[in-house]
Amino acid sequence: MERAEILSLLSSIKEKIDAAKDMKELIEVKNSELGKKSKFMSEALESLNQLIRIAPVEEKKALGAFINEVKNDVLSHYENKERVLREEQEKASLLAEQIDISLPGENFYKGHKNPLYPIRDEIISFFTDLGYDVYSGPEIENDHYNFELLNTPKDHPARDMQDSFYIDERTLLRTHTSPVQARTMLKHPNTPVKMIAPGKTFRRDDDDLTHSHQFMQIECLVVDEGINLAHLKSTLEKFMHKIFGPKRTIKFVPSYFPFTEPSFEVNVSCAHCHGKGCNMCKGTGFIEVLGAGMVHPNVLRMCGYDEHRFSGFAFGVGVERLAMLRYGIDDIRRFYQNDVRFLKQFQEEYRK
Ligand code: FA5
Repeated sequence: MERAEILSLLSSIKEKIDAAKDMKELIEVKNSELGKKSKFMSEALESLNQLIRIAPVEEKKALGAFINEVKNDVLSHYENKERVLREEQEKASLLAEQIDISLPGENFYKGHKNPLYPIRDEIISFFTDLGYDVYSGPEIENDHYNFELLNTPKDHPARDMQDSFYIDERTLLRTHTSPVQARTMLKHPNTPVKMIAPGKTFRRDDDDLTHSHQFMQIECLVVDEGINLAHLKSTLEKFMHKIFGPKRTIKFVPSYFPFTEPSFEVNVSCAHCHGKGCNMCKGTGFIEVLGAGMVHPNVLRMCGYDEHRFSGFAFGVGVERLAMLRYGIDDIRRFYQNDVRFLKQFQEEYRK
């Protein structure tokens, strides 16, 4: 091939490179015009290579320079075009991906707290503000702490009121938070105590509107010299008014627990029928929320206290029952069904 012919081939290849509209077309030009079998490679460069082999020494250098010039020319032309096309491509894809940051965001679904936890925390704050300590105990409990230290020996009829899930003869899921009373007193014998203990409790109760086989209790225990029933009553009145406000009717009803003497229950007027009597309160107009009493001297003695010097009061409150009465919830099982429509209703209440 003559030089002139090679130069004209070169410029026609450059025109084709210039005409490529995108990378796909450019690669097609590369394959057809600059590939091994292309006219440029197989004829133009090959003829120059042959020429250089037979050329006199003094011409070889100039010929070599010409070959390099031709090759570099087409290569840099190709690379420039490739850079331009890639930049264009990038610009176009950035434009396509452009987002308007001034648009409002998408709402994502947010969960809600089960009302049991905020009410538990509210009770904890109420008591810690009054100087109470917060203790916890194991949910899998020993019979000794769950019953015996609470003046409820084996075969005591009061055990029937708190049937449990047993792991073995001596180990059970605790039926109440009262064992934390015993554990706390044993840790600090003959020392004044002012504590609460929130936690899960379990019973083999048949589930119904107001009973669940698992529920939450908060235990309260105060032991010191000179503690009497008036301290217990005023603490409970303040506590109940804090939860329900001053208008709800609250009743103290005599009761029996082996670990307190005297003992009573606190009943609160039913949120559903407002004291008239309905299915939920079994026609009584009231629902029991807690058991309470003066700590039995046997319990004080067994837990390392001088029962002649110290006296104390204690109570255990069902947190589900408090929440039901406060919000008019008709079925205790709702706390455990995880229905978001139920949980959602308390969102505003606990944002305050
Ligand atoms: C007790 O559990 C005693 N340990 C309370 C106590 C503590 C008395 C300290 C004296 C001194 P009772 O079984 O009544 O008592 O339960 C206390 C409260 O737990 C009840 O008033 C009720 O609010 C709640 N409760 C009891 N059983 C269930 C149940 N199956 N489902 C939901 N709440 C329950």
